Amino acid sequence: MNISSINLVAFDNRFIETIKDYKKIHLKEGEGTYYTITANKKKAGVIGFQTEKDGNIGLKIGIHQDFRGQGVFGKALTLLAKKHTFDKIYSEVAIANIASVKAHEKVGFKRIPKKKEEELKEKGLMYKRNMMLVKNIKFQNY
Ligand SMILES: CC(C)(COP(=O)(O)OP(=O)(O)OC[C@H]1O[C@@H](n2cnc3c(N)ncnc32)[C@H](O)[C@@H]1OP(=O)(O)O)[C@@H](O)C(=O)NCCC(=O)NCCS
Repeated sequence: MNISSINLVAFDNRFIETIKDYKKIHLKEGEGTYYTITANKKKAGVIGFQTEKDGNIGLKIGIHQDFRGQGVFGKALTLLAKKHTFDKIYSEVAIANIASVKAHEKVGFKRIPKKKEEELKEKGLMYKRNMMLVKNIKFQNY
């Protein structure tokens, strides 16, 4: 599919359940700011963020299976960053979710130092089975 236009529109909480593995998104409605992503005017995913317990901005992302592997994630992230003013965005990803880790790295996320991860885990601010990635939004280079 040739995707020519990506947009962020009003969040649709029924559409999200049609996304394969949507439970991995860990989206808590009412606790964050979320959008439905459209690609060529069709619903293609969900993106948004919530302010985590430590004050950091945490990304929530899910792309519908029909639209994966086409760079929708990166384009939607650029749109999200244009709408909101944050310098950095964090994303907590299961270490076992290799597709997600790779996709995050592709759009410029880097894993935070292991020592910081350990501190967050000890404070109960992130799950043991996860890793924490961060992207500087101010200096986008993709
Ligand atoms: C993770 C996710 C958001 C990525 O979205 P996407 O738009 O497909 O991502 P992109 O097109 O930017 O990147 C795809 C990259 O992911 C990686 N990837 C995708 N599927 C993969 C797989 N099955 N195994 C390994 N790597 C994979 C590849 O590196 C690929 O890059 P390439 O196309 O250059 O090879 C999407 O797969 C998804 O919604 N998954 C289910 C929900 C989820 O896990 N959300 C994240 C929770 S932290």
